[in-house]
Parts: sequence; structure tokens; C-alpha cells
Amino acid sequence: MQPLRTNISSLRGTINVPGDKSISHRAVMLGAIANGTTTIANFLQGEDCLSTIDCFRKLGVSIEQNGSDVVVEGKGLKGLKEPSDILNVGNSGTTARLLLGILAGCPFHSCLIGDESIAKRPMGRVTKPLKMMGAHIDGREHGNYTPLSIRGGELQPIHYESSVASAQVKSAILLAGLTTNGTTTVTEPHRSRDHTERMIRLFGGSVTVDDLTVSITGPQQLIGANIYVPGDISSAAFFLVAGAIVPNSEITLKNVGLNPTRTGIIDVLQKMGAEMTIENIRNEQTEPLGDITIRTSNLTATEISGALIPRLIDEIPIIALLATQAEGTTVIKDASELKVKETNRIDTVVTELRKLGADIKATADGMVIHGKSALKAKDVVVDSYGDHRIGMMLAIAACITQGTVCLKRPEAVAVSYPSFFDHLHSLM
Ligand code: S3P
Repeated sequence: MQPLRTNISSLRGTINVPGDKSISHRAVMLGAIANGTTTIANFLQGEDCLSTIDCFRKLGVSIEQNGSDVVVEGKGLKGLKEPSDILNVGNSGTTARLLLGILAGCPFHSCLIGDESIAKRPMGRVTKPLKMMGAHIDGREHGNYTPLSIRGGELQPIHYESSVASAQVKSAILLAGLTTNGTTTVTEPHRSRDHTERMIRLFGGSVTVDDLTVSITGPQQLIGANIYVPGDISSAAFFLVAGAIVPNSEITLKNVGLNPTRTGIIDVLQKMGAEMTIENIRNEQTEPLGDITIRTSNLTATEISGALIPRLIDEIPIIALLATQAEGTTVIKDASELKVKETNRIDTVVTELRKLGADIKATADGMVIHGKSALKAKDVVVDSYGDHRIGMMLAIAACITQGTVCLKRPEAVAVSYPSFFDHLHSLM
């Protein structure tokens, strides 16, 4: 349990947010199955990405990690070896799902487990298409939940229509498709983040994108690359919102990834009237990045739905807090994916923000928030429920709360942002 700092008069300063979680995972994974050496700079040292390193070491890949510098000695598409130990993905859905895509094409047996949260997250969305391609996967509830057991091998290409816009599903199928003879396609209802597509190209491979359909023709051999990981916009989001809602604030976030499949939070802040500038926009290999400055702002409510949802899916907890400080009614819909994240984020966001006096209610596929409300707490205990993004959202909520608040399970933030509390306190 950690007391949170409340009633903050101002947040000022500059932060280098740590490397992007999605890109860090992919750099290790593609590095492992490429030929030759991959170097990664600004790798995220969060627990999720460390789980990815651990799993690939168990698959026989030599990976050296020195802080945020990582060197991966690639084994080639056929070079991973049967693990003698269980692959433990910890809290990381991305590790579980993308790893399954890689293991589907490997002619050996592996077992995959994770923590309590992973055990509740649906894996059928990836095991179903991978089984259609020819992988043998079993597990709890016919392979929908961990623990999972997988024996991969020769795969057939498929044309797959995913019912959810999920980069994890898309990426698992593309990674499996790398090994097949022929063209595998995935169509999604809305575009999800495209880091896998960009990074396959960076490793010398080829992927075709036609509107909402992505195709890969195998077999393809990848070549090791040197990668710089931009700052994670999903981590920056906590300080973007903090800067907008805490009085007398001005925060600059440096080297933030600005991939258009991830910038829904910027669109929302702009639509709500936030005072924000983006400078120094440039490309680092295949990913755009820039520096963002945000100031205390007068905000108005908005609607968030449809194709915007996958572009800000991980930011919805902190956007819910933002909406409590905007004049009017903010409606978030088409977001039932929130129910299958690290926690059911519709429930956890609504329950915890209500404890602080927010006017927020859950709907079947999102939430409705009436603003602007003053947050107050008298000896309130809020809970991250072990969900990193809920913990960080609550620490920012405390900044604008009058009273005393303690956070249960604050250590969850280390999943994606181990230095989060140090960075927050450096702005006070
Ligand atoms: C991720 C994709 C998203 C996101 C997750 C990371 C990725 O999940 O919520 O935190 O790295 O591919 P879905 O694509 O399943 O929505």
C-alpha cells in the first residue's frame, strides 16, 4: 500500500518516457528469428518485455541485456530449440499471443503459462487461426486459456477474418505466415497498431497492406537490424493528461512515438481543447516520433468510438480521468475489448474513479462520464488490481484529489513503466 500525493498545485518539467512496450517486444522476437545480430537501443525494461527476453532465452536464443541496450543473436526462422522449461509470459498478453504465432511454425513442443490475469485472458482468438494453419494447440477450455501446450510444424497459409481489431491477433498470424509456403492474409474490422508490419520490413521482409487486409508471403528469412525504440505514447499519455488537468502545469515529453495507429490520445486531447504543441517531428527508421508539450487546459467533453478505439485502447483508463475534468458528457463506446485487458478495465476504472467522487458509469461496451467534477477523498484506499495502467491512472487522479488516498498494489506500474513514480515526483 502506498500513500499517493494529493492536491498538487503544479506539475512542471521535462520527461523522457521509456521505450515503447509493443516495439520492444517485437524487436526481441524478430531479432530472435532473424539471421544475424540485432541491437536494440532504448529497450523498455518493464516486466512484460523482460518476460519476452526470458521466454526466448529458454528457446535457445542468446540475449544480452545491459539496461536499455539489448543484443539478440538471431537463430533464423528454423533455429529455435525445444525448451526444457515452461515458458512463463508473466502478465504479458503480447508475449503470449505473438510467441504462440512463432511457436506455431516450430517443429517441437512447448508449454506456456502466465500469471493470474493472463489465465483470464482469451487465447482462442490466436489459437483458433493458428490451429487452422496446422499447429497443434491444446489447453484449458480447448486451448482458449492458459496453461497452453503447443506443438508446431509445417503450416498452411490461411485467409483470416478477425472479428476484433487486435494487433496481437494480426501479428501472431503474420509471424506464423512467415514460415508457410504461400500467402497468408488477415482482415480486421478496424486498423490496429502496425508495428509488426513496419518492423518486418526493417528486417528485410515484405508485408503488403491493402486497406484493412494485411498479407505476407512465405517463407521469408529476416536479417538482424539495429533498432531504436521510440518513447511509449501509452506511457506518455499519463503525463499528457496530468499536464492538462493539474493547475499551473506545463510538461514536455521527449522522443514520443507518433505512429498514426497509436495517436488516438492526441486526437482526443485536441478535440477536447487541450493546449498542446508537437515539435521536432522526425522518423527513426520506420517509426515517427516527436516532442510534445502540454499545459493546463479548459476541456470539453467528446465522444470516443469506432475506428478511434484501437488507436487509443490502452489509454482509455487515463482518458476516463481526463473526461471527469471536461465540461459536459463524454461517451466512450465500441470498447468491449476493455473487458479482456489486464483487468476488466470498464469495471476497474468505474469502480475506482467513483471512490474519488467521479460521476462515471459503466455501459455494455464502454462508459459515460459527466464532468466537470471535483475529486475528493477521505482516507480512501484505491486499488490497481495488479493492472499497471489502472495504478498509474489512479496516481494521476490523486494529484487533483482533495484529501488522502492510498494505492493498493502500486508495484503493478513496473509492468510497463518502472520509473513512473520517480518521473511523477520529479514534476512536483
Ligand atoms: C498490443 C496490442 C493491443 C494493446 C496491448 C499491446 C501489441 O492489444 O492493448 O497493450 O503490442 O500488439 P490488442 O491488439 O489485442 O487490442
